[in-house]
Amino acid sequence: MSIIIDGNKIAQDIRQAVREEASDLARRTGIVPGLAVVLAGDDPASKVYVGRKAKACAEVGFLSREYKLPADVGEAELLALIRDLNNDRRIHGILVQLPLPKHIVTDKIIAAIDPNKDVDGFHPANVGRLVTGSPLFIPCTPRGIMELIARTGIELSGKDAVVIGRSNIVGKPMAFLLLAQNATVTMCHSKTKDLPAAARRADVLIAAVGKPHMITADMVKEGAVVIDVGVNRLENGKLAGDVAFDEVAPKASAITPVPGGVGPMTIAMLMKNTLDAARMAAV
Ligand code: GUN
Repeated sequence: MSIIIDGNKIAQDIRQAVREEASDLARRTGIVPGLAVVLAGDDPASKVYVGRKAKACAEVGFLSREYKLPADVGEAELLALIRDLNNDRRIHGILVQLPLPKHIVTDKIIAAIDPNKDVDGFHPANVGRLVTGSPLFIPCTPRGIMELIARTGIELSGKDAVVIGRSNIVGKPMAFLLLAQNATVTMCHSKTKDLPAAARRADVLIAAVGKPHMITADMVKEGAVVIDVGVNRLENGKLAGDVAFDEVAPKASAITPVPGGVGPMTIAMLMKNTLDAARMAAV
């Protein structure tokens, strides 16, 4: 019997704990955690994500501000907004929704965020801290996956972990988090020679590719833990993961569904990171 990891339930428990801790922080210090979310352009998926972030802030009792900018916003204007937010004492976390419009150099924008307010964990200082083993802010999706793994009681030490996908947002930070827990980590990507063979070695398989149902049963070892980061919109409007759930689930010892697996954890971890940022401002 494989365990279906219930990300909705775990994320709800985390939001509840964050809510209680935020209320305690406010009582002790008067500080209410504040998150600023910046959205440039009108990518439909990004709009949905930004809306969910605001809703989660309301649920846990945070201040939330949304900055909606047109798709043709200038880099200078965006940098000026970030400077203002860096200096705003009521804002503890700054999140610039990605992807940004093509004419903007994403790295330049991320580098302008105060690392102490970088609740996405994308600033080079925070990436460096993660890699060297003294993290400040950990990117929300990989942090959420580690939480799912820990709360399901899965031991990582000595296990073969395979990460498919090498994005800065998920794949790369994921690999370093697994390594920090003493897993033996293999990173796979579009140029990997024999992906099915590499995937079959995994005790823990993380699929973060963005191709619906590409991980099939023949690519999964019996008893593997399978984490599906894919959020793919099909032509029929339904959401599909990167994993062919129906055929893979019977082989897995534990697996995350889509939706209701990794997705809700990303926002729960954003709330946790914002609470941590507010706590840092309190001392
Ligand atoms: N776009 C997709 N995922 C993320 C995320 O975790 N943070 C930001 N800022 N943008 C994203």
